Amino acid sequence: MNADKSLDLASIRDAFPERRIVYYDTVDSTMTAAAGLEPGSVVIAGEQTAGQGRHGHSWHSEAGNGLYVSLVLPPSPVLTLALGLATVEAVAQTTGVACDLRWPNDLMIGPRKVAGILVQLVDGRAIAGIGINVNHREFSAELAGEATSLRLAAGGRDFALTELVIELLHAIERVVPEDQETILRLFTQSSSYAAGRRVTVALPDGVIEGTTVGLDAAGFLIVRKDDGTDTLILAGGVRAARS
Ligand code: BTN
Repeated sequence: MNADKSLDLASIRDAFPERRIVYYDTVDSTMTAAAGLEPGSVVIAGEQTAGQGRHGHSWHSEAGNGLYVSLVLPPSPVLTLALGLATVEAVAQTTGVACDLRWPNDLMIGPRKVAGILVQLVDGRAIAGIGINVNHREFSAELAGEATSLRLAAGGRDFALTELVIELLHAIERVVPEDQETILRLFTQSSSYAAGRRVTVALPDGVIEGTTVGLDAAGFLIVRKDDGTDTLILAGGVRAARS
């Protein structure tokens, strides 16, 4: 693949002539930039100065090396799971790197996270934010144990952001319209966390440990504790348990 790291906006706009594609070299967050835009719009940034993660965390958004994109979509029940699946597909297709999915939608390479997804509901629309660590060469000591990049996972190869974002938008157009049952089935097939995985989960009233036993019909994760009782996990906070 052509590893030109700069974004070729003309190619992205040519591939999606019906979408409004907005680009910023630097923006606080593509989430705030996308709020208020018409459905179908896509906001891409070269760098974010206040990248937002889930649960109020920040998202490390180094200039030029990551993909930082938000799309305006109609809300749908298992959208977060569908976006994770689409991102896994796009990454595999363009880089050959296989990622796991940690429920609900963290892309993992082994124990480290390579991409994250944040969905916010604004004025009846879903703002879907996707951040992928692509060509990062290193992370701070604080992040190094938890984060990785496609480059680090692929032995130092750089990847082209343009090809990745085009494939990501195509994958979203393919996966998101699938029916809920199909998305749950695909997620269960693609995620080692969906069933049979020993996990800890941070809940508001403490941490529980158990084994995942699948998703319920709405896409929530079921964790069976060692006393045999099941807990339905409604938000994130899932971690692989230390063995
Ligand atoms: C997570 O915590 O896993 C979600 C991270 C989401 C990061 C992306 S980068 C593009 C978009 N803009 C943001 O500020 N956040 C999302």
